[in-house]
Amino acid sequence: MSRDVIGGGSTMAIELTVGQVANGGWCVARHEGRVVFVRHALPGERVIAEVTEETARFLRADAVEILEASPDRVTPPCPFSGPGRCGGCDWQHASPEAQRRLKAAVVEEQLARLAGVERRVTVEEVPGSAGGLGWRTRVQFAVDRDGSIGLRRHRSHDVERVDRCAIAHPAVEEVGVEALTWRGAAGVEVVAASGGDHAVIVTPKPGRRVSLPDVDAAVLIDEGKRGTRALHGRASMTERVGDRDFRVTASGFWQVHPGAAATLLDAVLDFARPKAGEWALDLYCGVGLFAAGLAEAVGPEGAVLGVESDPQAVQDARWNLRDLPQAVTERGKVEEALDRLEIERADLVVVDPPRAGLGRSVVDRVATLDAPRIVYVSCDPATMSRDIAWFAPYGYRLADLRAFDQYPMTHHVECVALLVKE
Ligand SMILES: C[S@@+](CC[C@H](N)C(=O)[O-])C[C@H]1O[C@@H](n2cnc3c(N)ncnc32)[C@H](O)[C@@H]1O
Repeated sequence: MSRDVIGGGSTMAIELTVGQVANGGWCVARHEGRVVFVRHALPGERVIAEVTEETARFLRADAVEILEASPDRVTPPCPFSGPGRCGGCDWQHASPEAQRRLKAAVVEEQLARLAGVERRVTVEEVPGSAGGLGWRTRVQFAVDRDGSIGLRRHRSHDVERVDRCAIAHPAVEEVGVEALTWRGAAGVEVVAASGGDHAVIVTPKPGRRVSLPDVDAAVLIDEGKRGTRALHGRASMTERVGDRDFRVTASGFWQVHPGAAATLLDAVLDFARPKAGEWALDLYCGVGLFAAGLAEAVGPEGAVLGVESDPQAVQDARWNLRDLPQAVTERGKVEEALDRLEIERADLVVVDPPRAGLGRSVVDRVATLDAPRIVYVSCDPATMSRDIAWFAPYGYRLADLRAFDQYPMTHHVECVALLVKE
């Protein structure tokens, strides 16, 4: 049911009954034959929604008034969230249990629609964030014209000024960048590693000098394509997983939730079941998190090849795996590296691609390796489900899947899928 309640001016408000959540975190509703993607709502709610974008096929809207609330609705713990405010968290208004239920429904729907797989999914809590808050160990702040810190509004360059971020890890907040002025900066990113290091990465506005305030952290300048330059302190940080330390360049990739690296490593090894003497691939290996676990398991008679495109991450991976000579890290894109290295087979393959997923050509190439097990780590259930469908004609079926609430207060979800060759 929907009806227009206000018209004219640059905004239009409509009354909607909101349906299920789609991939991307929007609730889906209908208005005069068009789909409406609604933020700040929950399934089953009746809301007044303000239209924020209109195309011939769909509308986007923000629920600005809740006429009938879902039992899952809570008061957002963050004072900066809500329609037109900070664009960082989209599910602050749902209880943590409801967030996990909604994410599970999205994964189930994507698997059914894109992979043709009917499967019940449970999204598991990840240790290290009480009530879904205080977990982000890397926060990218925006800087307003006068040098004040804030966070970007949703789909906008506007800055919502903040004096703290509720999902930032306490170690990020300790640096206190929000209380300082960053004239000349376009962005300020704060990174806090589990080993205790802090770094601040400052992106200057084009052609501007940044007047840097004093902070108790390493300070790096983002020089665009040339990478980052350390002004003071160390550019590399230490992340600890179990009894192993990983060197990670501050600007490089590391799981952002403090419990994620250990949780994912356990899940990957549990599905991969690497055995002594096996030949394993870790594609999109970052600084070698999974390669290290695989290399320990396959032992000196086995071998692990990691493939990673970021040169700095490759250097870090080689350093991190220096005590495991059976693990080798190759720099390059997966799309070309397997051919270049003439990799023809593997006992098991772990893939952890960026949000875009593997894509057709990598699925086809990985399938030719004829590995009995493929473990697919994914931060996007849509591209993962699409790739699972592309693996099917090669005889791979989804044998198991775990999903993790690695990004509480947002719609994002991490999945680890096990594909086995029939
Ligand atoms: C989601 S991260 C996973 C890293 C690692 N598995 C971890 O958990 O720490 C994806 C990694 O893939 C790398 N990457 C992106 N595109 C790539 C490509 N086409 N070929 C190889 N690596 C790529 C990125 O630099 C990044 O380190």
